[in-house]
Amino acid sequence: MENGESPAPEETGIRPITDREFSLFQELIYKEAGIYLSGAKKPLLEGRLSRRMRELGLHSFNAYYHRVLEQGEAERVRLLDAVSTNETHFFREPLQFEFLERRLFPEWAREAELGRRPRKIRAWSAGCSSGEEPYSLAMTLLFHFPSTSGWNVEIFATDLSTRMLERARNPIWPIEKTKEIPPQYLKPFMLRGTRSQEGKIKAGPEIRSVVRFDRLNLNEDGYPFSGPFDLIFCRNVLIYFDTESKKRVLDRLLRSLSPAGHLFIGHAESLTGLGDRVRSVIPTVYMKGGSESAEWSKKS
Ligand SMILES: C[S@@+](CC[C@H](N)C(=O)[O-])C[C@H]1O[C@@H](n2cnc3c(N)ncnc32)[C@H](O)[C@@H]1O
Repeated sequence: MENGESPAPEETGIRPITDREFSLFQELIYKEAGIYLSGAKKPLLEGRLSRRMRELGLHSFNAYYHRVLEQGEAERVRLLDAVSTNETHFFREPLQFEFLERRLFPEWAREAELGRRPRKIRAWSAGCSSGEEPYSLAMTLLFHFPSTSGWNVEIFATDLSTRMLERARNPIWPIEKTKEIPPQYLKPFMLRGTRSQEGKIKAGPEIRSVVRFDRLNLNEDGYPFSGPFDLIFCRNVLIYFDTESKKRVLDRLLRSLSPAGHLFIGHAESLTGLGDRVRSVIPTVYMKGGSESAEWSKKS
């Protein structure tokens, strides 16, 4: 969670959260989203939930807990919205974009030339927050693989938070965000606001047309996608999961990754201790399988 911005609960007539109430929310959030909140997150949880409790006129966390259970899906979604951390940037982790542009893209272009791969690229931004990640992918993919050369780019972008998805679908940012975007992508893919939109930028029609947003809880089974992805970005999401839920999510992500596909995670995350499901290509970029290719068995 980001740092608490709400007034202290006692200033709002809300009784401070008890250890028991914190455990109830901790279990519920873990069960629903796979997100494990350590005891250190108690004040932040208290701040975030008290904002919603004020709207509902509730004064105890126990009452809000029961409201969440009774109201079903809608209030559960709001609860998860309140606890998720949504920090994101354009072209976050520049070394990964360098890997794409210098290593992977030339390889794909060569293979397509030789007729060994279709001119179609599918990417998934899993945990896309307010959209900077999938739009960054769209800019770099469309720049290197334009439709005028016969390429087709499709990007799926999913998140647990409906609040973030709403922002991603209305992709307008303050102009300061241009500092995060490499200059060669700005002109072709971003619109600059004038008059009432002065000081803002908006994702242009070309990148908007290749990104599709959907709500998806990575902790739930049955991802509604068909066909494998060449790239899966699941960055700075698994950091909030414990080992067990991380394993489950990783298995599901790998089922959606094509045999030659690449999985990207955040630099503060690690997949060590998760068996030989993946092998590292460069730090934070993985492919399916152990350290040896499938042709080598353990037996001599
Ligand atoms: C810190 S942001 C990272 C955004 C982007 N991937 C990046 O690296 O800039 C983490 C995102 O993961 C989402 N998230 C957390 N748990 C999730 C879950 N169980 N299923 C889907 N998304 C989840 C949050 O809502 C949040 O938008």
